Amino acid sequence: MRIAHISDIHCHHGSDFNPKMFTKATNMLNNYESDLVFITGDLTTMGLLHEYEMAKQKIEEIKGEKVIVPGNHDERNLGFKLFPEFFGKPDFIKTYPQFNLVGLASSEPDKDDGHLGRGRHALIEKGIAKNDKLTIIGFHHHVIPIPNSGRETNIIEDAGETLDILLRNKVPLVLMGHRHVPYAVQIHKTLLVNAGTFSCTRTRAHFGNTFNIIDIQEKNINIRVVNVAEETEHQLISFDLEQQCYHNALYD
Ligand SMILES: [Fe+2]
Ligand SMILES: [Fe+2]
Repeated sequence: MRIAHISDIHCHHGSDFNPKMFTKATNMLNNYESDLVFITGDLTTMGLLHEYEMAKQKIEEIKGEKVIVPGNHDERNLGFKLFPEFFGKPDFIKTYPQFNLVGLASSEPDKDDGHLGRGRHALIEKGIAKNDKLTIIGFHHHVIPIPNSGRETNIIEDAGETLDILLRNKVPLVLMGHRHVPYAVQIHKTLLVNAGTFSCTRTRAHFGNTFNIIDIQEKNINIRVVNVAEETEHQLISFDLEQQCYHNALYD
């Protein structure tokens, strides 16, 4: 199966959203013919009704099934009440032929900080208990500090407990966003993967707008980063599920 992992679209009628970049990124993304598009939050910038309407309309241009969790920006200004109306439950377990996907709302109203809490930890464990398949966990905030993204401020406040659950259960893949830079690292038997921003003008240095393409085969997970402006792709990380070893293009 192929998952397109995109994040931080930031629909906004001010300067945050780059409509030309969105259209270009969407055309490139649609050519990958992914089985599933997983969006790890920040679809809007202020959580406003007209931004939600814009986000709904924009992501209809993206082909295929879309699965979405909210980001901190989507929860602003009562946006947390709009999210379920537009995009469904913010916490869920979905079952696919090759994996179970646990999506979690790591954001809280009017706060940039992230938090999962015991209820969502229980949902992670419920997803893992369906152990006939791979378990993939996704939420907006990051669980470890991300290089090239400035001073650490918004890591989930229960990161220690969350990381412990993920590592003890050997969850193979965790998908996150928020920091507007792509990143991947393996800790123990878990891949932690961040998508950069799909269409926000707030990009960092030369990272630009990017999205991740994740190919899950029987024995391997391979992840590429696609740079929208440059129209290039490079391998971010690959993980051998049998040997439990990996190649990380950032560090090898
Ligand atoms: Fe963002
Ligand atoms: Fe964010």
